[in-house]
Amino acid sequence: MVAATDFDALREQVLQCTACGLCNGRRHAVFGMGARPARWMVVGEAPGEQEDRQGLPFVGRSGQLLDAMLSAVGMSRQDDVFIANVIKCRPPGNRNPKPEEIAACSPYLMRQIELVKPERILVLGRFAAQTLLGTDATIGSLRGRMHQFAAPDGRNIPVVVSYHPAYLLRSPVEKARAWQDLRLATRG
Ligand code: URA
Repeated sequence: MVAATDFDALREQVLQCTACGLCNGRRHAVFGMGARPARWMVVGEAPGEQEDRQGLPFVGRSGQLLDAMLSAVGMSRQDDVFIANVIKCRPPGNRNPKPEEIAACSPYLMRQIELVKPERILVLGRFAAQTLLGTDATIGSLRGRMHQFAAPDGRNIPVVVSYHPAYLLRSPVEKARAWQDLRLATRG
């Protein structure tokens, strides 16, 4: 029963969740962190090794890049942004999440969006984009324009799709496009 849960109870549910097999290998479930209410919500894929150790989202190298990107548009995770992932527990060896893991975990994200009430959502990477927008389209075809997320409470929240920071670390040439995406997210 995720739907009626308040923020603290939702966090407790996530920290104790056993809805899929990923709970067996985790050190910590990673609920998310940041401002509340938030101007933006940033949605990533799943915790990596550092996140699993610390119980916080985007604290490894990808997180450093994410913080630098947010800072470039005058935003911070302390004051403006709530950061969460589609999947709250680290997949072994950082493998891709399985459809049944996404199905088990995404109700938590939906309730987080309802409670955080962001003005805008920035989704990073294919899994987050496909989960939020209910599509199997590629990042390349989704980025560059505003989408709408129909929140469970009936609000339409503008969504911008961009590359995952881990991908940008491997392909720095794409940072120029990621910058365009950030600029798009700051508009309007
Ligand atoms: N990658 C993600 O998608 N999320 C994190 O929290 C860390 C790395």
